[in-house]
Amino acid sequence: YRIAVFASGSGSNFQAIVDCVQSKELDVSIELLVCDRPDALVVGRAIQANVPVFTFRPKEYASREAYEALILKELSDRKVDLIVMAGYMRIITNVLVEPFYGRMINIHPSLLPSFPGTKAITQAYEYGVKLTGVTVHFVDGGLDSGPIVAQRSIEIGEGESEAALTQRIHAIEHGLLPQVIDWLRAGRVSLEGRRVTVKEV
Ligand code: GRF
Repeated sequence: YRIAVFASGSGSNFQAIVDCVQSKELDVSIELLVCDRPDALVVGRAIQANVPVFTFRPKEYASREAYEALILKELSDRKVDLIVMAGYMRIITNVLVEPFYGRMINIHPSLLPSFPGTKAITQAYEYGVKLTGVTVHFVDGGLDSGPIVAQRSIEIGEGESEAALTQRIHAIEHGLLPQVIDWLRAGRVSLEGRRVTVKEV
């Protein structure tokens, strides 16, 4: 089962997947890292883990569709089964959504549909919600809007700092994302409209 990971930043979620593959908790092959920032930390992590890297600079292309067509070619050449968005800070167009709908997931640090977008943890914290969490969802053309595969909730503690909350959310992400990848690998996930079912084993 062949996956590609898309990431833009530090890549702690990418690392969590690599670690699970190396410890044989997760039986997948990471075929490619796709990164829109050639100087991002995640690129070094991929090199370290011997994962091939495809980087590009969005500004150098006329449109999102233009660079996504190149990405699609890379994914097809490598026969990728699943795209995992792990901190990839870009909207996806139909060039990728169409061929990969139902085979492309994203991790998001809130309980969607609350707090979509890039500042979810801060927004939840400042809103004062008592409960937040992590969502893994299928990717459609919208902003963090596709069908939900899994969610984990946590309570925000009395007097908890935003930094402490952020750390706890990341720790949950690093457990949940490899777990959902494994469900998909095992063929346990089915999608009907917006409803996702995960079969018991
Ligand atoms: C994560 O919080 C993820 O949920 C969000 O972006 C962050 C990426 O962190 N989409 P990292 O690059 O995996 O460390």
